[in-house]
Amino acid sequence: MVLLEKYHFFRYNANYEGDLMFIDTHCHLSKKDYEDINKVIQANKEAGVPLIVISGCNKEDMEETLQLANQYQEVYATIGYHPEEAEMITKEDLKSLEEKLSCQKVIGIGEIGLDYHYRKDNKNKQQELFQNQLELAIKYHLPVVIHSRDATEDTINILKKYKVKGIMHCFSGSIETAKIYIKLGFYLGIGGVVTFKNSNLKKTLEEIPLEKIVLETDSPYLAPEPYRGTQNSSKNIPIIASTIAAVKKVSLEEVEKITSYNAKTLFNL
Ligand code: NI
Repeated sequence: MVLLEKYHFFRYNANYEGDLMFIDTHCHLSKKDYEDINKVIQANKEAGVPLIVISGCNKEDMEETLQLANQYQEVYATIGYHPEEAEMITKEDLKSLEEKLSCQKVIGIGEIGLDYHYRKDNKNKQQELFQNQLELAIKYHLPVVIHSRDATEDTINILKKYKVKGIMHCFSGSIETAKIYIKLGFYLGIGGVVTFKNSNLKKTLEEIPLEKIVLETDSPYLAPEPYRGTQNSSKNIPIIASTIAAVKKVSLEEVEKITSYNAKTLFNL
């Protein structure tokens, strides 16, 4: 089947019980965004995305993220404080994060990192919070999910000091940057941006082996074309995979097989 046709087959055939098993390695799931979580998870399964990793990256979301991961067998969690939280996080909050890392369904720390897009005035605080959490990742042997926006140089310099592995969440940088992150031991998290008409990411992807790519939606944000601007969810992963398959000139199954293997290897699933 033609890729997009195949995607529509997954999307609309409610009885689909195929063998495709995509993994959404980074998304957000909360009752404040989705009315019926059961329905969302069921729709994901029907679309061929039975396994999702949800991210709780502030104090409030963290609790709900853990709850959902404990409630649903197919939901795993990464937790960590987003750089936007840098002003608010206390030593006690870090202690509380550390305690939660032992939960069985917590498989990584994130999203953590640096965001100079909205704030450049608290770089020191962001870097301190980032490094504190990288130390936790080392202490507990956990992979990390990195958020880096307008902060590539500092992100690289900090990651060079820590022996961690993980995902560069929502990667959309240059080929050169991609190669540096891969050399540091990271997978590139590719999401809806790859489907955007004005994105340079397709060009970068041509140079990056599938073995270094994992899929993500970052839902409810960043819905892929043709749904750009609407509420995203993990069921849209096959659209992202179809675009990557077209860029890499391989089958959808190949993208599914390799990216799911990558995610399982990284998160030890
Ligand atoms: Ni996110």
